[in-house]
Amino acid sequence: MYRSIIKSLTVSPAMVSSVASVFKSALLSRPDSCGLKLLDSCFSYPTGQENGEVLALDFGGTNLRIILVRLNGNRTYDLLKEQIINLNENRSGINLTAASSSGEQLFDYIAYEIGEFAGGNMDYLLGHCFSFPFRQLSPKSAILLEWTKEIRTRMVVDREINNMLTVALQKRGLDRIKPTAIVNDAVATLLAAAYRSQSADLGSICGTGHNTSFFDKSGHLINIESGNFFNNVLPVNQYDVLLDDNSTNSLHQRFEKMVSGAYLGELFRLIILDMVRCGHIFAESVDVVDSLSNRNALDSKNISVLLQKGDFIIRTRSHTINAREKIMLKNLAIAMVVRAARLIAATYAGIIDYIDPNQLGNHIIAIDGSLYEQMPYFAQTINDTLHEAFGHKRGIFEIQFEKDTSGVGAAIAAIMAKENLHRNYPPHFR
Ligand code: BGC
Repeated sequence: MYRSIIKSLTVSPAMVSSVASVFKSALLSRPDSCGLKLLDSCFSYPTGQENGEVLALDFGGTNLRIILVRLNGNRTYDLLKEQIINLNENRSGINLTAASSSGEQLFDYIAYEIGEFAGGNMDYLLGHCFSFPFRQLSPKSAILLEWTKEIRTRMVVDREINNMLTVALQKRGLDRIKPTAIVNDAVATLLAAAYRSQSADLGSICGTGHNTSFFDKSGHLINIESGNFFNNVLPVNQYDVLLDDNSTNSLHQRFEKMVSGAYLGELFRLIILDMVRCGHIFAESVDVVDSLSNRNALDSKNISVLLQKGDFIIRTRSHTINAREKIMLKNLAIAMVVRAARLIAATYAGIIDYIDPNQLGNHIIAIDGSLYEQMPYFAQTINDTLHEAFGHKRGIFEIQFEKDTSGVGAAIAAIMAKENLHRNYPPHFR
């Protein structure tokens, strides 16, 4: 059983190239047949000269980040102040990401925190990094298509997000704080990277969620929503199917469920539970089964601790975890992490091949996210898999780690939108 699970998690070089080629074909025609949304962000390359002090809101899941950033207009910036707020446990006492809360409650609370952070009704532009799929109507307005990453707040889907935020700010007398842009985090990461260097052309998030954006041939910055990718070419196993069946958004975000931090712990739990029940590990200990029976009993942090320190969170009274079991657990965790990284790298290879079929350029892939930063084996495997995919064309890609730059990207977007420079293509695109 153990061997067959490891096998089902293995992504061969042939599979990498099939995933890359299916992904590329989906970008060329019928992206919707593979779940790709290709949402035009309404933004193009920043000039690097954007400047000013700007507020940015980074709303990506249960944590909300508010920052004040100074863009220096010379491709550099300084982070002046930041605050992180948990939307589940916060001063309002309400879990704002659960289905029991409404969008109005959520944005009223966010407006309150922005007011506290800004020190009252001060003149600020605000860039909003909103890390969910939305249809952009203009640089500052967008409609939420669906929640992902298990957020359930009611009455936000199909609404105009920045309008909800603006109304909430006005209700609090904060009308001098002006949301002038809304961008997805994969888009914001690429804007921040392109602000520093114009050769950045892919932006990606490998954290709680997963997604990638890129500058297309005409210079438009496109949000792929690659977390929703799905095709028969993907090595889906029985645990992936079970995880999807039990999730709050079954049949959506299938790729994200195989590769991102929100789901790796759950996938690990389902695999271990099955192995315990079949008597392959932990001698069928009832207390292990009990402690693993709840959905999301394990998270991706447990996996990174296991891989870094060899510690496994589950303690059993009836059975001491032996050396053989520790090795099995570790190998399973590695197989899951490596699968995630190889599949993601395959999509990057597909995108690069799409934007540069003759493979002439040097493409900077800007990546942000906790998995990329902290999960053992993850970053290295992405890099190795891309080398494997491009073989001798080694100079074709370069990976740049972007730590927490989505807020900065949103701030850049706020200035671009205000100065009407969001479609200001660099000379080679005119
Ligand atoms: C969302 C994307 C987002 C990604 C990373 C996914 O669940 O659909 O819009 O970019 O998470 O935060």
